Amino acid sequence: MEEQQKSSHVVLVMVTFQGHINAALQLATILHSKGFSITIVHLELNSPNPSNYPEFTFVSIPDNLTESQLSDKDIPGLVRSVNKNCAAPLQQCLEKILHSHHHISAVIYDSFMFCAQPIVDYLGLPGVTLCTHSALGLLFYHVFPQLNEKVCVADCISGLESPELQALQLQGFHALSSQNPTEAGMEVGAAFANALKSSSAIIVNSMEFLELEVLSKIKQYLPTPIFIVGPLHKLAPTMCNSLCTEDNKCISWLNKQAPKSVIYVSFGSIVNIDKQELIDIAWGLSNSKQPFLWVVRPSMDRGSEWTESLLNGLEESVGERGFIVKWAPQKEVLAHAAVGGFWSHCGWNSTIESICEGVPMLCRPFFGDQILNASYICNVWKIGLELKNLERGNIERTIKRLMVDMEGNYIRKRAMDLKEKAAFYLMEDGSTSCSFDGLAKHISSV
Ligand code: UDX
Repeated sequence: MEEQQKSSHVVLVMVTFQGHINAALQLATILHSKGFSITIVHLELNSPNPSNYPEFTFVSIPDNLTESQLSDKDIPGLVRSVNKNCAAPLQQCLEKILHSHHHISAVIYDSFMFCAQPIVDYLGLPGVTLCTHSALGLLFYHVFPQLNEKVCVADCISGLESPELQALQLQGFHALSSQNPTEAGMEVGAAFANALKSSSAIIVNSMEFLELEVLSKIKQYLPTPIFIVGPLHKLAPTMCNSLCTEDNKCISWLNKQAPKSVIYVSFGSIVNIDKQELIDIAWGLSNSKQPFLWVVRPSMDRGSEWTESLLNGLEESVGERGFIVKWAPQKEVLAHAAVGGFWSHCGWNSTIESICEGVPMLCRPFFGDQILNASYICNVWKIGLELKNLERGNIERTIKRLMVDMEGNYIRKRAMDLKEKAAFYLMEDGSTSCSFDGLAKHISSV
């Protein structure tokens, strides 16, 4: 198999969002270490820095997207545009690679780049879907929508019998229904599901012990092999794939704070915040009296100058107790001894990074799989509290519940237990390395 892998060539098709880029490059790094040669196909907007990966070939395809589309709240609409704009260039690109390489073992594509599957079908290549969300996200967004109408969603979910997973039912419906009303949401959901039907395998950046029951549920409905390969950031830890410049000054500031005293606040790379929400977050943080490190991306408020003055005012009023950055070295921050809580939008990468460092979470999901992840965190693993609304009094109280109250201590203890399980899972013979060997074998044999 080793001999075969040496000549195996994988093309990895990425999408333009930070969390997705991270996972794809980490996966590529691991596959390369297993003997595969790698071509990364990426969009023009938010392209990765090839000089960080001299061992890979990078090919850019035109996407016809603008920066401002990334700050749009309509994510399904954006994903639809990406797929419409990129289908033809992606096909030309794969044809060109085929001519020059003679052989492509598999095309691994981000699940948001579902236009890749019909193209690889046409070219006679195996397509593999990369899910940068949880297996639960896979169940709700990909598996359920493709079941025929006779098997209604309620029947499927009722099979999740354990009391903890019951809570996911409601959240899952909420997450699904919040996408369903828009035309783009419907179209994207159907395209996801169709791609999955002909995909030769599915890769999920998760850990089996986190999602055992959900995984067995998926296997009931989907014959496609699933490879659970996470946590990718721990398996390929040295790479920095940040699209923004990390502000390392926050680490010097963290060095001066008491152990477990700081709440780290970050809403990932896509979420936008309204003006009133920003004001309430600022006041909530200020009134909580807890030290905080807050990431305010310039695009988060669609570039308002007004935010600049709000943040200056906040820094003045809280003084040394608060630190605001445009982008943080998040993995280093979460591993820092001073960090005692993570207020997050619950993107899957943030969730899994927090679990691996044993940091309890304050959850304020905004859309899509973030709602499912928040439910996992608060109701199933019980390592976080949900922030039901962004009213400043509620923010202040919930921060104190997590950071100061007894309730927070119990949650912290459970988060530490889960961290230990994750560390054990990573050390265990079998689990991830077995999954990777299975994946490598699958790619080499299809
Ligand atoms: C998107 C979707 O929002 C999310 O729902 C889905 O699960 C994955 O894709 P994103 O918003 O980027 O993800 O959030 P997340 O998945 O948490 O990824 C953000 C990444 O950026 C993390 O790896 C995090 O470490 C990194 N990050 C974030 C930084 O390095 N610095 C920061 O300041 C903020």
